[in-house]
Amino acid sequence: MGRVALVTGGSRGIGAAIAIALKKARYRVAASYCGGDEVAARFSADNDIPIYRWDVSDYETCVAGIAKVEADLGPVEILVNNAGITRDAMFHKMTVEQWKEVVDTNLSGVFNMTHPLWPGMRERKFGRVINISSINGQKGQAGQVNYSAAKAGDIGFTKALALEGARVGITVNVICPGYTGTEMVRAMDETVLKERVLPQIPVGRLGEPEEIARIVVFLASDDSGFITGSTITANGGQYIV
Ligand SMILES: NC(=O)c1ccc[n+]([C@@H]2O[C@H](COP(=O)([O-])OP(=O)(O)OC[C@H]3O[C@@H](n4cnc5c(N)ncnc54)[C@H](OP(=O)(O)O)[C@@H]3O)[C@@H](O)[C@H]2O)c1
Repeated sequence: MGRVALVTGGSRGIGAAIAIALKKARYRVAASYCGGDEVAARFSADNDIPIYRWDVSDYETCVAGIAKVEADLGPVEILVNNAGITRDAMFHKMTVEQWKEVVDTNLSGVFNMTHPLWPGMRERKFGRVINISSINGQKGQAGQVNYSAAKAGDIGFTKALALEGARVGITVNVICPGYTGTEMVRAMDETVLKERVLPQIPVGRLGEPEEIARIVVFLASDDSGFITGSTITANGGQYIV
């Protein structure tokens, strides 16, 4: 039987593509979501992937959610921290709530999910933690001080934790997607997309969620054991680090 992989925010967008790709690669996959019951139920039925509802910004609900997944499928060996939100505003207009919501979900959510799973991974001497950050955590983005700070935090988290996991068979890596064709991005005004976004991307198109998913499948595999603490940039050449 394949290893158990848990994908947060797996009901749609990049997370759904990751969950589907991991299932195709013969992992036993569980996905989580937060509030979109209908979308999540459809995703689960269409793909035969069990889905669980909890909010990654709350530590205790993560502990309870993980316990349910492990009772159903067994110990989680691959964790994909993909759940994320944006609450954009220029800094002078940003509210404390917008700051907190984004940091609590995109950064503390990564802690809240990884921390309860870490002791089991250490004991079993195997684990894969794959975090989904963003190009905007690397380069910064006006209107996204909260998001850029949280996503940059995910990169620091990855580097430090990779050093702790290295001796016990756990790799920790982070992927920074650029503009990717999910609902969020496709919902943008067509003119803004064509005239302002696409010209910034040297390959001349959006990324596909499946392109991010293929990186995850590689990082999850036993073949990737020498790759840890890495930041993998997938942005069509928009920001070269
Ligand atoms: N799309 C892009 O261009 C792009 C670029 C760079 C980085 N990223 C990053 O890639 C990841 C996925 O992005 P996406 O565009 O695929 O997002 P999306 O389509 O908006 O989907 C977000 C997923 O996260 C879940 N989620 C949101 N808040 C949550 C919470 N507090 N607890 C648990 N689950 C939660 C959502 O569940 P519900 O629907 O139930 O709320 C949904 O399943 C995010 O971390 C994002 O920051 C995206």
